[in-house]
Amino acid sequence: MTQDELKQAVARAAIEYVVEGEIVGVGTGSTANFFIDELAKIKGSIKGAVASSEATAERLRSHGITVLDLNQVDSMPVYIDGADEITPFGAMIKGGGAALTREKIAASVAGKFVCIADGSKLVDVLGNFPLPVEVIPMAQRVVARKLAALGGEPRLRLKDGVPVLTDNGNLIIDVLGMQIPDPAAMEAAINNITGVVTVGLFARQGANVCLLGTPDGVRKLIF
Ligand code: 5RP
Repeated sequence: MTQDELKQAVARAAIEYVVEGEIVGVGTGSTANFFIDELAKIKGSIKGAVASSEATAERLRSHGITVLDLNQVDSMPVYIDGADEITPFGAMIKGGGAALTREKIAASVAGKFVCIADGSKLVDVLGNFPLPVEVIPMAQRVVARKLAALGGEPRLRLKDGVPVLTDNGNLIIDVLGMQIPDPAAMEAAINNITGVVTVGLFARQGANVCLLGTPDGVRKLIF
């Protein structure tokens, strides 16, 4: 099976977590896109969706799914999103698509975080994937120095030679060379740096369920 077929399989499996008549939180990225395509097939049975990025909102709308502003929503039963890495304990690195802040905000409102990922994302220790940190532009250099002091190698994220801007108008610093044995402690330490908006560690509030795509079928991990 290709990686896309594995992503499609978990996207399909995630539909069972969508609660009829309710709002569903939707993540960002290629796996989340497959999920949106599946969600479109049952769009008549949900109240609407909260999007974790402008790209996701656009894809939801293109399928005729109602997109609600999070400020209109007090609670939602489930948030469904991909991950760049996930541990056997449900801690994740996210933000490969630069949507980490809105992802973390939307997930914080949901009763349950369902992570959908192909099997390559399961790791024992987080950190091989560069850790994304969303930063206020004027704080880029000072935050980079502090991330280096934590043992990482900070790199400003560029696309076509130009700094990537998040949907919130901020920069992304990717931190290479981090081994993160205690993700919750690292999440707190980085979030505590002045100028950091969000770190892409989802450990203090990680996944509740992970649907992992493997050649033998969808494995379900419950945390
Ligand atoms: C976007 C994310 C994505 O969930 C993460 O990058 C995984 O993406 P993909 O499903 O394309 O592998 O955090 O900010």
